Amino acid sequence: MDTFKIRGGRPLIGSIPISGSKNAALPLMAGALLADGPVTIENTPLLQDIFTFNNVIRVTGARVEFEEEKRSLSIDPSGMYHFESPYDLVRKMRASFYMAGALIGASGYARVSLPGGCAWGPRPVNLHLEGLKAFGADIEMDKGYVVAKAPGGRLPGGVFDMNPSSVGATVNLILAAVKAKGTSVIRNAAREPDVVNLCENLNRLGARISGLGTAELIIEGTDSISGGTMYNTPDRIETGTFMIAAAMIPGSDLILEKTDTEDLGSFVDTFRKLGCGLELTKHSIRVTAPESLPPISIDTAIYPGFPTDLQAQWATMMTAANGTSIITDHIYPDRFSYIPELNRLGASITQKENLAIIQGATPLTGASVMSTDLRASVSLVIAGMAASGETDVLRVYHLDRGYEFLEEKLNKVGADIRRVQEAGS
Ligand code: EPZ
Repeated sequence: MDTFKIRGGRPLIGSIPISGSKNAALPLMAGALLADGPVTIENTPLLQDIFTFNNVIRVTGARVEFEEEKRSLSIDPSGMYHFESPYDLVRKMRASFYMAGALIGASGYARVSLPGGCAWGPRPVNLHLEGLKAFGADIEMDKGYVVAKAPGGRLPGGVFDMNPSSVGATVNLILAAVKAKGTSVIRNAAREPDVVNLCENLNRLGARISGLGTAELIIEGTDSISGGTMYNTPDRIETGTFMIAAAMIPGSDLILEKTDTEDLGSFVDTFRKLGCGLELTKHSIRVTAPESLPPISIDTAIYPGFPTDLQAQWATMMTAANGTSIITDHIYPDRFSYIPELNRLGASITQKENLAIIQGATPLTGASVMSTDLRASVSLVIAGMAASGETDVLRVYHLDRGYEFLEEKLNKVGADIRRVQEAGS
């Protein structure tokens, strides 16, 4: 397992290209299995989760080729014969559960392992299963696997009122409904750009989905969708992560390119309250660090609210703010495993149920800290870049799941991060 050795206190100055979105690419990859010919997905990031999902898809017999230099992923579903996804792969990456919707949508049958939990608690899939049943699937549990069957080989379609709104369940139900016999409706659907991007791409290949960007999606079943090209959207969470890093590290002047600022939702409005220099165009953002940071409390919410995937990064930045701020996560109440690690660096944060109370400003001093999950570990990297002295962030394999060439991107704009292999790893 690798460690990042970070020497802090160096401003981030220059420009960073934003990579394709992990959380938008994974639904596109599952959606490609619905096509009756090869699909190429452009702007696919080189991430561990993408490589893992490639292997999940290969188990079905579909051909997967990744032209990594071009970020071009080709999936040819025509050879699919095995409509199953095994536990030893699904447990590595919970979004593999999208195979349930993709396989029943493509073949009328799916046998997919239940995904595991994650670092911050259970990640239920009850909405996925209730929705598939609402669309006419027979669902059985078989030794930790979900077995979903469409009577007569093709789902009739139906209406599903989702509560709470779930990104993953919305994706899975879209995949199941695209080639259903009839029309399906998802109410209280997730409105994340990842979902809109999936629908836009499926429609381009012949699907008939309306209500994009709203909480009510109507999917008219179609007999087939063609092969072709899908376009992945830039990673809005990577964008927000680097914006926060630039705001926190004094003297920073950072330009983020190849992004899509319209995907940031209300995060931009909250970010403006920091008093940074902020220049936006549709595909670029320039952030200059403010003289000092005000304490800004946040509540996470479904899109277009503040993303839960940016709350750990925001909490890290609030350790440098002049005053007390509160971070409340309404999506994942336990997503605070980073707090003890930030406190080791000198922060003063206490957790009460689903909120963190941050007493700022506390200058951070380098120490060894442990990554626990993807967004917690990138928050520790931000903290290490802001801290004085050297910070060792352990187990950065978490980062490799969701941030493409992170240390190269940051070192190019002035950071000092060395990746070293841990003895015995
Ligand atoms: C997606 O996870 C993202 N993952 C997560 O990003 C992100 O944190 C999350 O959406 C929320 O935005 C991917 O896109 C691959 P949910 P997902 O279903 O789909 C509850 C990252 O760091 N729920 O929208 O699993 C659930 O417990 C990852 O990139 C049910 O109750 O999230 C949660 O409270 C981490 N039953 C809420 O819904 C269900 O059947 C939202 O979860 C499903 C979800």
